[in-house]
Amino acid sequence: MLSSTFRTAVSQTARHIRSLHQSAVRCGGGGALFVHRDTTDNNPNTPFEFTPENLKRIEAIIKNYPEGHKQAATIPVLDLAQRQHGWLPITAMNKVAEVLEIPPMRVYEVATFYTMFMRKPMGKYHLQVCTTTPCMLCDSDSILAAIQKKLGIKVGETTPDNLFTLSEVECLGACVNAPMVQINDNYYEDLLPQDIEQILDELKAGTVPLPGPRNGRFSCEPAGGLTSLTEPPPGPGVGVRPDL
Ligand code: FES
Repeated sequence: MLSSTFRTAVSQTARHIRSLHQSAVRCGGGGALFVHRDTTDNNPNTPFEFTPENLKRIEAIIKNYPEGHKQAATIPVLDLAQRQHGWLPITAMNKVAEVLEIPPMRVYEVATFYTMFMRKPMGKYHLQVCTTTPCMLCDSDSILAAIQKKLGIKVGETTPDNLFTLSEVECLGACVNAPMVQINDNYYEDLLPQDIEQILDELKAGTVPLPGPRNGRFSCEPAGGLTSLTEPPPGPGVGVRPDL
């Protein structure tokens, strides 16, 4: 008969294996289906045009690449389309193909490969909870659970007021400040469940909370204080060559 400790360990391992295998599908906006299916809000008649300001930005982006290589601008121009519209309907992808003078399929390939491109409507705030190993070891599960409980949505869902969409994502490169959540362009780090609840309250109230660590750290310095380089730097050459 299995001991309860062993059963718990097996079930936790299974849960995290599930996360690895399902993360692309569980990602809120982009990865639910790699193929496009027409819906009422995403079909070839969905209105999308770049604003005049963004058309100027596109011109500048294209100039970053050698002549004849407009295709290299696919990612930044897709990003611009997503920032303008909030997500990427098929007409936005087609427009990107048109301005870059490439076949639409080249754009679809990129938009379906990268999970940061969202191909279904998103909430105003995209909550991306990292649950990869360093964050998981720092209890990212409690952060995910706190969000789900407070907003009443599961991973991949959007709140009825279209304010929040919740995604579970792989490492966002801020492991030293684990656990962390990305909300739109901001990182919120060193989180406890009460921190993320407060952040959600502030967003609901219409203010954007200060990004960064929540445990008093300025950035990613050691939480217990410096262990090396504890004195001010002496300046170039000082103490290195006494004969100079
Ligand atoms: S594991 Fe979460 S940011 Fe790297």
